[in-house]
Amino acid sequence: MLRLDDHPSGRHFLQIPGPTNVPDRILRALDHPTIDHRGPEFSRLTLEILEGLKPIFQTSGPVVIFPASGTGAWEAALVNTLSPGDRVLMFETGHFATLWRKMADKLGLSVDFVPGDWRSGVDAAEVEARLRDDKPHAIKAVLVVHNETSTGVTSRIPAIRQAIDRSGHPALFMVDTISSLASMDYRHAEWRVDVTVAGSQKGLMLPPGLSFNAVSDKALAASKQARLPRSYWNWDEIISMNRQGYFPYTPATNLLFGLHEAIAMLLEEGLANVFARHDRHAEATRRAVRGWGLEILCRDPAEYSSSLTAILLPEGHDADAFRREVLQRFDMSLGTGLGRVAGRVFRIGHLGFFNDLTLCGTLCGVEMGLAVRDVPHKKNGVGEALSYLRESGGQTATAAQRRAA
Ligand SMILES: Cc1ncc(COP(=O)(O)O)c(C=O)c1O
Repeated sequence: MLRLDDHPSGRHFLQIPGPTNVPDRILRALDHPTIDHRGPEFSRLTLEILEGLKPIFQTSGPVVIFPASGTGAWEAALVNTLSPGDRVLMFETGHFATLWRKMADKLGLSVDFVPGDWRSGVDAAEVEARLRDDKPHAIKAVLVVHNETSTGVTSRIPAIRQAIDRSGHPALFMVDTISSLASMDYRHAEWRVDVTVAGSQKGLMLPPGLSFNAVSDKALAASKQARLPRSYWNWDEIISMNRQGYFPYTPATNLLFGLHEAIAMLLEEGLANVFARHDRHAEATRRAVRGWGLEILCRDPAEYSSSLTAILLPEGHDADAFRREVLQRFDMSLGTGLGRVAGRVFRIGHLGFFNDLTLCGTLCGVEMGLAVRDVPHKKNGVGEALSYLRESGGQTATAAQRRAA
């Protein structure tokens, strides 16, 4: 039988871009005995969570929680708002955008899929041009992955919002924030996103198993007309029962305990500090990559992701063999290359429960791995990152220090 947690002494380094390391505070919260999901204590728990999620998504509207992985929340976004044969506009930014497109196809939607090079984000000018061309307003929704986890490229949501507005097109705007929410600045209400899709296992620092739709009034109105079949994913019943703090099915009680704690941790740190922490660790990682003389997959610095960095290995070097060696020698998991970039890139997840020394350990593991595998590189990647970490301010304050300040 498999022995769980059968790792060498010391913490396993889980540096894939999600699931991320789960903080002890959250592990302890998950550990509470399961309670009656129809009792008064559970109702208080749900109501506190639903309020706490609003600042995280930066919305005052409803956030629907599903006991599902992110894929479920993708499906919920589509089936609640669209009808068979509806046209939707999507962009090939990478593996996850491609998977979401495949789902839309399977559900009977008609997808305009704008090709991409897997190194760039969504071009706002292209969004505007496509919508302007669509005089009869046949396109019902624009679907964008905010942070493409397979490439480390972040699309600029405010620019896309402005492009939609300039075109005067009424399409819904749906954004996948599965690897950006609670790591990178994201504003559901201010950017007038209609459905925000999110998952538990990345910036929220929880295990996989919960996913979310933050929903605008316009999306709710669309859901009244939408005719794609839906039952389990139906927002209406969930939102209605949520008002009393309950769900129309047995919820994932212990994951909700964890979510309650995750919200507390994020709000104690302050979202602005959470984002600044991720920006700083991402910058330090990129300095390391340049110090090694390797190439960052993302082409445009304005689209660098703050939650992960995808790195190209030189021709003739297998990124998966490199990852295997790092796991075996240093007990660290790095993200694999997915889809079109499989075998060519590895990804460093620097999101979630993460601090300066977690980054130092991660980068040391990568640098040692490059040497062990004889990947041609320069020797000062870690040094560059350390200088930046030293010079750009230290550890963020503890919650108590921040409260006292
Ligand atoms: C951007 C993005 N979208 C969607 C998904 C799919 O989510 P899940 O694997 O939780 O179903 C992922 C998973 O990593 C992702 O990173």
